[in-house]
Amino acid sequence: MITTTGLTKVYRSRGREVTALDGVDLHVKEGEVYGVIGQSGAGKSSLIRCVNLLERPTAGTVTVNGRELTALVGRGARAGKELREARSRIGMVFQHFNLLSSRSVRDNVELPLEILGLSGRERTRKALELLDLVGLSDKAKAYPGQLSGGQKQRVGIARALAGDPKVLLSDEATSALDPETTRSILELLRDLNRRLGLTVLLITHEMDVVKTVCDSAALMENGRIVESGTVSELLATPGSQLATALFPVGGDASGPGRTVVDVTFHGDAATRPVISQLSRTYNIDISILGAAMDTVAGKQVGRMRIELPGPFEENVVPIGFLREQGLQVGIVEPAEPTKPADRATTVKEGAK
Ligand SMILES: Nc1ncnc2c1ncn2[C@@H]1O[C@H](COP(=O)(O)OP(=O)(O)O)[C@@H](O)[C@H]1O
Ligand SMILES: [Mg+2]
Repeated sequence: MITTTGLTKVYRSRGREVTALDGVDLHVKEGEVYGVIGQSGAGKSSLIRCVNLLERPTAGTVTVNGRELTALVGRGARAGKELREARSRIGMVFQHFNLLSSRSVRDNVELPLEILGLSGRERTRKALELLDLVGLSDKAKAYPGQLSGGQKQRVGIARALAGDPKVLLSDEATSALDPETTRSILELLRDLNRRLGLTVLLITHEMDVVKTVCDSAALMENGRIVESGTVSELLATPGSQLATALFPVGGDASGPGRTVVDVTFHGDAATRPVISQLSRTYNIDISILGAAMDTVAGKQVGRMRIELPGPFEENVVPIGFLREQGLQVGIVEPAEPTKPADRATTVKEGAK
């Protein structure tokens, strides 16, 4: 639904060059909620602004809903019209709502409908329908100043849906909201995604947002995508930074010469007594160093860090047993003992 290839954006100002996007290949499938996460300055906003050509990419292509938008740029007045049309099918939600304070809620939603050339009556009908969709039918006559942050964002979402978009882009739509309001806005986005078949590309710096609503996610650093995939693929990838951030599980080995293993349970496996079976089958004592259960992308997922007696070579068979049970297993390499300040552990996939 959204594809970028080699997307590059270099800003030039006062003789300085900033590379905000450095060859981004993004693939968002139809009907999914895709989260892009990254620190401030990583290039997330540049990415979203390049996807709807609000910002013109320096190089690379952007294709949305089968249309190569980058091919529509700079080909005279006609291309301008085609681009405007294509863009009207891409809704955009902003962090700071961008509502006109002098216009009522209904008039704010009517604004893009006016631009689309709908008659007064059609506009009103459509605006009220959209306000109903976002749960704000009773606020049509209110002014933005009379609304809470969450209600303002609902107006922003209704307005973004005016052109019956297939794609909704959201740049930090919940960053200005408290956690409870954030949750209700995310539920709304999820609901719209399901009911309207809307593809949602959302930018966030909050892991919780990814955990709650995203089917897929990408991690951006310095203008590049350094990790991407469906949330369950990421959780299954040993050493994935996103998985670790989504689902932290810690715990250090109780001493040298032991094998520490991270086990990820999905679906059914989450409720089977795999660890006690392992212990009984191989007659070994297993210590649980850390564990967590959570719902990720609507599915129950568990992660556990366990310790087996003896070095890795002695545990190849029990680890094979865990893999046969359909669990994702990552071997945790001990931190360098010579550097006590650097206690970080890395996870590598052990021998299959
Ligand atoms: N209009 C601009 N002119 C110059 N530099 C910009 C502009 N917009 C963003 N940048 C720079 O590009 C980089 C990426 O910014 P941005 O896309 O806003 O990142 P994020 O949304 O992840 O915080 C930053 O270094 C930022 O300072
Ligand atoms: Mg930003």
